[in-house]
Amino acid sequence: MEIIIQPTPDDACCIAARIIARQIQTKPDSVLGLATGSTPVLLYRELVRMHREEGLDFSRVTTFNLDEYIGLPPNHPQSYNRFMHENLFDGINIPRERIHIPDGVTNDIPGFCAKYEQDIVDAGGIDIQVLGIGTDGHVGFNEPSSSLASRTRIKTLTPRTLADNARFFDNPNAQPHHVITMGIGTIMESRRILMLAFGSNKAEAIAAAMEGPITSMMPASILQMHPSVHVLLDEEAAGKLERDYYYRWVFDNKPDWQKH
Ligand code: PGA
Repeated sequence: MEIIIQPTPDDACCIAARIIARQIQTKPDSVLGLATGSTPVLLYRELVRMHREEGLDFSRVTTFNLDEYIGLPPNHPQSYNRFMHENLFDGINIPRERIHIPDGVTNDIPGFCAKYEQDIVDAGGIDIQVLGIGTDGHVGFNEPSSSLASRTRIKTLTPRTLADNARFFDNPNAQPHHVITMGIGTIMESRRILMLAFGSNKAEAIAAAMEGPITSMMPASILQMHPSVHVLLDEEAAGKLERDYYYRWVFDNKPDWQKH
């Protein structure tokens, strides 16, 4: 795992955007796995800027989002479908048919999930998966106790995650308790993973996931088993790491050819 600690979320997102841009420039038909929530907003803003000002071309890119609330139609203000269009897709030249987001209003959830898995395989697999992390260590919406081999399926959110995300809903009764999420096994098959975490409320989960034991009680800890993970943190999210001096040392001593 490459843990990169930056002064601010902006700095971290610029590095993340450069990693994604290089991926797309090297392989124009790249498949990106994308996340929602507050964390990737600055990353998406930077990708939109790169598209507008530097001509970063998304015309052959395919995307798969991690998750969606069950019961929210695509145009619902709190749906992740709407979030993705407002924060990224409306600002870049990705063809609509290349965008995949779990369908929160499907009437066949198991059938939809099986097809989502197959669509990822048919697209050639995910080249880079963007991930945030929950304060309870979830990735996607794979809450603690999720099988580390799980596939795309329905999950029930924990009260803690519901409380963390309540800020997005004016009416707490309108907040769905169920989601469709890519599984941990699905996420682990991505060729590369880019995890982002910002703010002191993520520090405990980041330390446990990066430096603690691998356990389904801390789903993000499974990333220790992935061969190619970049973890981009601001100072606050890195605040509880014991080996932060080493991660900074590695970053400062990178050979030129390996710099981001
Ligand atoms: P956040 O959510 O980016 O809104 O903090 C992260 C997550 O739940 O994975």
